[in-house]
Amino acid sequence: MTRPSADMRKAMSQAQVGDDVLGDDPTVISLEERMAALLGKESAVYVPSGTMANLLGLLSQTRPGDEVILDGNCHIFNYEAGGASVIGGLQLHPMNGPDGFLPLEELPRAVRPDNIHHPHTSLISVENTHNRGGGRIYPFEQLEEVYRFAKDKNLRVHMDGARLANAVVATGIPFKKYGALADSINICFSKGMGAPVGSVMISDRETVKRARYWRKRLGGGMRQSGILAQACHYALDNNIERLAEDHLLASRVGAAIEKKPGLTLSFPVETNIVIFRVGDESIDFEKFTKDLENAGIRVLAFGNRSVRIVTHLDVSPADIDYFESVMSGL
Ligand SMILES: Cc1ncc(COP(=O)(O)O)c(C=O)c1O
Repeated sequence: MTRPSADMRKAMSQAQVGDDVLGDDPTVISLEERMAALLGKESAVYVPSGTMANLLGLLSQTRPGDEVILDGNCHIFNYEAGGASVIGGLQLHPMNGPDGFLPLEELPRAVRPDNIHHPHTSLISVENTHNRGGGRIYPFEQLEEVYRFAKDKNLRVHMDGARLANAVVATGIPFKKYGALADSINICFSKGMGAPVGSVMISDRETVKRARYWRKRLGGGMRQSGILAQACHYALDNNIERLAEDHLLASRVGAAIEKKPGLTLSFPVETNIVIFRVGDESIDFEKFTKDLENAGIRVLAFGNRSVRIVTHLDVSPADIDYFESVMSGL
């Protein structure tokens, strides 16, 4: 939903560029190096979208026929058009976990025995913060346990950190500490960070080398993409600390929801996402979401009478004042 700001556009217009398919775009190279250093890894690859970064993370660390363990509520399982299965020949093994966190005690049974009847389990994927989990932050100790478990079983770990910056700002835990608990990480610049395009997949040198083949195969090789990468540099310089404001505004949205009879928050509000249920059947759900839309408040309606609201850098405290007044009148 965010629009690149005038200053971001200006920075983009001044970007130095080369040809990234030939590997000589200086702005893309510096972004990749910057992200690898930030996460404490060897290498990174710039791609157009979070979907491609996730796909590259999975495909570069598995073989067709392998199985990937993830939670059934995650983005990869629900919203990436089955790419891991179609393109990577992977079987996804969804687990039930409250709020999108993997149930640790059930993990040992989810790993397939070494036997020709079964697919080979090769990777665990986690999502932090969790989109359908209402922006919740993966508890750090649980991530540590997942990673320890994975290493014990010789499995790779991918972190869909599309919104990892939100977790970093909310917890004060640095990127590098999260980076140490995954073998590959996707970070998106097109969400709370406000860039128009772009994600990076960060990992070790060998995995990123394989990912570059996949990116090319998928048509994700871009030429003078330094113009786009410059927006990501700008976001890193200017739009990370300010995520705390989005979190504050989301908590105000959450409080306004809690005040309203018939509405229930589905998850505690920890970052910039608020998901709630319109549980009271006497409220016409379609009319409710239409009324919000007509009032200029864009929300996402889910099945099960649920609604998602996201705060971001184009949402101001005055917008939340307005939201509160609309809600009290509904
Ligand atoms: C957690 C998560 N991962 C990945 C993606 C995919 O990003 P993109 O829309 O850039 O493909 C999203 C998009 O909303 C997301 O929320």
